[in-house]
Amino acid sequence: MTVLVTGARGNIGSRVVARLDAAGQRVRASGRDVGTMSVPDGVETVELDLTAADGFEDAVKGVDAVFLYATRGSAAPFLNAAREAGVRHVVFLSSPASYEAAEFRGPIGRIHRAAEQAVAESGLDHTVLYPSWLATNARLDWGAAIRAGEPVELPYPAAQCVPIHPDDAAEAAVELLLHDTHRSRMQILTGPESLRLDEAVATVGAVLGRSIPVREISREDALARREAWMRPEILESLLDSAAASVGRPAPLTNTVERITGRPARPLREWVVENRAGFDRETDLPL
Ligand SMILES: NC(=O)c1ccc[n+]([C@@H]2O[C@H](COP(=O)([O-])OP(=O)(O)OC[C@H]3O[C@@H](n4cnc5c(N)ncnc54)[C@H](OP(=O)(O)O)[C@@H]3O)[C@@H](O)[C@H]2O)c1
Repeated sequence: MTVLVTGARGNIGSRVVARLDAAGQRVRASGRDVGTMSVPDGVETVELDLTAADGFEDAVKGVDAVFLYATRGSAAPFLNAAREAGVRHVVFLSSPASYEAAEFRGPIGRIHRAAEQAVAESGLDHTVLYPSWLATNARLDWGAAIRAGEPVELPYPAAQCVPIHPDDAAEAAVELLLHDTHRSRMQILTGPESLRLDEAVATVGAVLGRSIPVREISREDALARREAWMRPEILESLLDSAAASVGRPAPLTNTVERITGRPARPLREWVVENRAGFDRETDLPL
């Protein structure tokens, strides 16, 4: 079996590549710049922009299944090329933003719904994954403050999240790429517990062995402190989602265990594995 992994440099994509390769499958790892990708020895690489108009032959030739990321532009031409090349199944990484009321009409919801629609309209057999809050957000969002010994600033500290270990998302994806048992359904993947954001910060602190202060800031201050790479409407949408989850523990599913046969890993486990990322600047994978 040959699996094309898009976003092979990505947090989840790279884990999918590593697991497929370790399972002895033929993997074609793709990205928009293969020069910046690092893949296990023997894994084939191919340049692929999912939003290109054409030129997909090298990427899709001989491929049985595809792991697909959502993109801002349309992936319809790629999906048509995949279908014509005989791809049998697509595992698409979407987001609960595509159906959650607080984000449904926002840009994150719209991007993911448009991408889901393109997959559905391609006629390809597919499974859609909806992972909860990726544990890697803890380092992306709070790592700089924690490394600097500064308070983590949270506009909604009581907002609830369900951290999911990226290995759990990747392992579920790999199972779906290789076996048809759980395919062709919505698969809502969550971690094992709903936490307040300030409890998630405290979980990082417990692993580091120090208390990490949290400073509550206003929505206006959060918007004023927006990083340049974050589009304002995306931040607005994330803040809407956080505001809507204050005091409302998020639902948990047993999907990770049902698909992988192992219980979902708690946030603490990811933090233990990645604590170096909170101690200092690091090149460790996310
Ligand atoms: N953060 C969360 O809590 C959360 C929750 C639910 C769902 N999600 C979903 O999961 C995604 C994040 O996953 P992650 O952490 O693994 O992402 P990541 O590390 O940021 O990787 C994203 C990958 O997408 C690829 N990509 C983007 N546009 C592309 C294009 N036009 N053509 C080809 N490849 C393209 C990138 O490939 P290049 O190497 O070419 O850049 C990159 O490798 C989110 O975008 C969202 O869809 C996230």
